[in-house]
Amino acid sequence: MENLCPNLKSRNSQVIEMISTTFLLLGLALCLHVAECTPKTTPLDNIVFSALNCRKHSAVLTDFGGVGDGKTSNTKAFASAINKLSGLASDGGAMLIVPPGKWLTGSFNLTSHFTLYIHKDAVLLGSQDESEWPEVAILPSYGRGRDAPGRLSSLIFGTNLTDIVVTGGNGTIDGQGAPWWKKFRNGELNVTRPYLIQILFSNQVQISNLTLVNSPSWNVHTIYCSDVVIQWMTVLAPIDSPNTDGINPDSCTNTRIEDCYIVSGDDCIAVKSGWDQYGNKVGMPTQQLVIRRLTCISPDSATIALGSEMSGGIQDVRIEDITAINTQSGVRIKTAVGRGAFVRDIYVRRMFMKTMKYVFWMTGSYGEHPDNGFDPKALPEIKRINYRDIVAENVTYSARLDGITNDPFTGICISNVTITLTEKPKKLQWNCTNVEGVTSNVTPPACDLLPEKKPMECPFPEDRLPIEDVKLKSCSIASTVA
Ligand SMILES: *[C@@H]1O[C@H](CO)[C@@H](O)[C@H](O)[C@H]1NC(C)=O
Ligand SMILES: *[C@@H]1O[C@H](CO)[C@@H](O)[C@H](O)[C@H]1NC(C)=O
Ligand SMILES: *[C@@H]1O[C@H](CO)[C@@H](O)[C@H](O)[C@H]1NC(C)=O
Ligand SMILES: *[C@@H]1O[C@H](CO)[C@@H](O)[C@H](O)[C@H]1NC(C)=O
Ligand SMILES: *[C@@H]1O[C@H](CO)[C@@H](O)[C@H](O)[C@H]1NC(C)=O
Ligand SMILES: *[C@@H]1O[C@H](CO)[C@@H](O)[C@H](O)[C@H]1NC(C)=O
Ligand SMILES: *[C@@H]1O[C@H](CO)[C@@H](O)[C@H](O)[C@H]1NC(C)=O
Ligand SMILES: *[C@@H]1O[C@H](CO)[C@@H](O)[C@H](O)[C@H]1NC(C)=O
Repeated sequence: MENLCPNLKSRNSQVIEMISTTFLLLGLALCLHVAECTPKTTPLDNIVFSALNCRKHSAVLTDFGGVGDGKTSNTKAFASAINKLSGLASDGGAMLIVPPGKWLTGSFNLTSHFTLYIHKDAVLLGSQDESEWPEVAILPSYGRGRDAPGRLSSLIFGTNLTDIVVTGGNGTIDGQGAPWWKKFRNGELNVTRPYLIQILFSNQVQISNLTLVNSPSWNVHTIYCSDVVIQWMTVLAPIDSPNTDGINPDSCTNTRIEDCYIVSGDDCIAVKSGWDQYGNKVGMPTQQLVIRRLTCISPDSATIALGSEMSGGIQDVRIEDITAINTQSGVRIKTAVGRGAFVRDIYVRRMFMKTMKYVFWMTGSYGEHPDNGFDPKALPEIKRINYRDIVAENVTYSARLDGITNDPFTGICISNVTITLTEKPKKLQWNCTNVEGVTSNVTPPACDLLPEKKPMECPFPEDRLPIEDVKLKSCSIASTVA
């Protein structure tokens, strides 16, 4: 069926911006001449937003039978909209607008050269009907699902795509995760819980200006991707919800994560690259990653975790201007015998932390294996880990740094760190085993394995990653009818 509504059409955004009011009237007039098109009433504001690419065509979910009453399933409306719009990929691409309303939906798949725009007054509600969540193939670098052998598709899922934008005026995606958390805790699930947004094998990916709440599990997972921009995201999960990681860049190259606010029951950001022998075999590192201007609250987990699944390797990660409040640890390394691969060339600067259990935490005995097929001789190589310019207040332990016997973590550098302690601090402030490195200007003073070397500043790269130079374009949604 050819959709002839004025909502689905070619647009020159600049021109439309200027003549939006005229256009609205023209659109209504056109409707009178197109039988299948009924004029509707909700006007969308003339919205301007930033994106990797603007689109020539756009449509509104209601053009495809969407009902924003919070009760009717929109899974089919999303599928038919995106299926239709995918045909415009080679003709300037298309945007699907989710207008104000509450849009209940199960999982749906994105397409290339496509923008999903979630209006500021729109809420996507994750369906509670499990039949709305198809089972999808396991991730090759994990060899199985994380909770259980199989896994369910994410709410917004995309694989083997190029040029995709998921954005909005801080519109909301509510995973309605509570029943999933309960089933997971009770061991009632035989599949891995869905995530909110998962993008696989794709390049040129933007995820921005959204509020994600109550994910059944992880919130944003990009895996086997390159050229990824994630910004201005608000992620809110109850601090006791299971595995509600904020953003997980996984086996991706060239990623920029910035200006995000995350409250989570697990790591605010978890940098990963596959699990034991499966991750070794796929061999795709996470590299060229910049994380900046993050605020994190996570009482039982890390601000930023590297691992524990790091079996494709993690290298060249730059982390700066981070705030953590009431969080268990700062930039934590988690690994284990059997992971193999490496975590190297990690640079952290300018962190402010308040009410922390640990400022520095590295764990070489994290455990958790996909199965018994891991190689006990596969030792991870952890080296050149640099931290500087850190202030932390109300801290229980300054550092717990546990390398691996006969596989020490080396090249650790920590400089210009001021830690003030809680009323009841631990006696042994720096507990170090199987680590090697240096410190400078650190209070309280570090352990003997990290001797003072003065004067010294730990390095932070001066060059820029290619993703730092990617500029977003100014795009607009003309005033239209929804
Ligand atoms: C995204 O959020 C930032 C911060 O609030 C804001 O400056 C920017 O204009 C927003 N963009 C859109 C498209 O809403
Ligand atoms: C989305 O795509 C994946 C991979 O092709 C497929 O397994 C899944 O069923 C699709 N989901 C939907 C809702 O069509
Ligand atoms: C996606 O790309 C990967 C890697 O190139 C390939 O192995 C896989 O078969 C592709 N999947 C689909 C559904 O095209
Ligand atoms: C986005 O919405 C969330 C939840 O309502 C709010 O806490 C946050 O401040 C908003 N962000 C921006 C940039 O407006
Ligand atoms: C999981 O359980 C559901 C019903 O509870 C069943 O239909 C499905 O086949 C099971 N899947 C696996 C992978 O065991
Ligand atoms: C300091 O940390 C303790 C936990 O160790 C917490 O109970 C207390 O509220 C914090 N104090 C302040 C002033 O934040
Ligand atoms: C030490 O770190 C603090 C906090 O980030 C910063 O303000 C100060 O400039 C740093 N000092 C030096 C010498 O770099
Ligand atoms: C120091 O760390 C080691 C290794 O993790 C642990 O066994 C030991 O109990 C810790 N000591 C103290 C006093 O916390």
